[in-house]
Amino acid sequence: MTEESKIINHCSFCGNSKEVVKKLIVGDTVAICSDCVELCQDLITDETAEPEKQESQYYPESIREYLDSHVIGQDDAKMVLSVAIANHYKRISNPPKDTEIQKGNVLIVGPTGSGKTLLAKTAAKFLKVPFVVADATSLTEAGYVGDDVESMISMLVNAAGGDKELAERGIVFIDEIDKIARKGESTSITRDVSGEGVQQALLKLVEGTVCRVPGGGGRKHPGSDMLEVNTKNILFIAGGAFVGLKDVINNRMNGTSIGFGASIKDSKVEGDLDKVTPDDLTKFGMIPEFIGRFTTTVSIQNLNKEQLMQILTDVKNNYIGQYTYLLKLDNIELTFTEEALDQIAENCLQLKTGARGLHTEIERVLMPHMFYTRKYKENQIKQININRESVLDPKPLL
Ligand SMILES: Nc1ncnc2c1ncn2[C@@H]1O[C@H](COP(=O)(O)OP(=O)(O)O)[C@@H](O)[C@H]1O
Ligand SMILES: [Mg+2]
Repeated sequence: MTEESKIINHCSFCGNSKEVVKKLIVGDTVAICSDCVELCQDLITDETAEPEKQESQYYPESIREYLDSHVIGQDDAKMVLSVAIANHYKRISNPPKDTEIQKGNVLIVGPTGSGKTLLAKTAAKFLKVPFVVADATSLTEAGYVGDDVESMISMLVNAAGGDKELAERGIVFIDEIDKIARKGESTSITRDVSGEGVQQALLKLVEGTVCRVPGGGGRKHPGSDMLEVNTKNILFIAGGAFVGLKDVINNRMNGTSIGFGASIKDSKVEGDLDKVTPDDLTKFGMIPEFIGRFTTTVSIQNLNKEQLMQILTDVKNNYIGQYTYLLKLDNIELTFTEEALDQIAENCLQLKTGARGLHTEIERVLMPHMFYTRKYKENQIKQININRESVLDPKPLL
């Protein structure tokens, strides 16, 4: 008997038989049920929901609404960022004739894993412009080993599928910008490759310059078609955790008077990142010219437990949904009790890696179950309910 001649009566994806599903679409060698079609549809529309056309005007409120469906909390940051982005695209779509409106790049300051990259990425998705993330720590001045700063622009051209005009309206997110802060005074004897020099190299680029990057020909035809890309309309968003910046702000707000007569407890104000000034950033080690080109500074806050729980279940593409889907493919229904979610968020707080810890936690909790899916199938286990106990001590159900 050949494979083909078998009549398929269950879904090849979730394994449900044709009796229990609404509809079963049967092909030559596989079949899919209506539930799985729906799941796939959701996944696909989410990934490819980018219509071709770009608008020439965006309202901050619309940007904000879109950010809200993907990013939890960070209300102030969303508002400031929405306005900055709307203004940027308003300006480049209607270049003023006699006045020069200065370009406003954006600096996002705040703890790791709290949504800096996610905010920038989500905004780019909304605007339907190409987006790249560049790591500041891997950038060097021209002439040193490493990626020179113009490599960011060639990445952007790639992200735009080689379309120069599109790239010129794109967004570059420069991550870990705090890592290229000037080091202490003592290191100034030799040239500071990773720090100040890179800031200097970035100046022209973020302000607006024409740079020549390999384009058209791409990798297959090296040397052919250098593209001249003007960066004046590219929006640069820089992000960094700026560990220690709070102390700088604190010192400014409370005076640095330590010791005799200093009133430590009386009038101490807790310096908050949203009080940051350009001066604080200079003290931290950013050069003033660099800070001057990032006219909007946005601060984001540590996520609290409730927000972490929301990230688990409420945002688009949330982690619980992703793993529920994965297990559904094994015909297993995955559920979590409220206490379990609470415990996962609690554990995540301890990891101090922001929402990134959620992924680590979910993986840890579901590991034994995901490993034994074959055993579960053999034993007809079709339901996993995760409670607090199984978060604290993940064990397979067998
Ligand atoms: N405010 C948030 N809302 C929703 N998800 C978040 C949030 N912050 C972080 N995450 C999740 O954590 C991951 C890492 O966040 P990211 O934006 O890269 O942090 P960072 O601030 O270090 O750039 C994101 O991919 C996302 O899944
Ligand atoms: Mg990041």
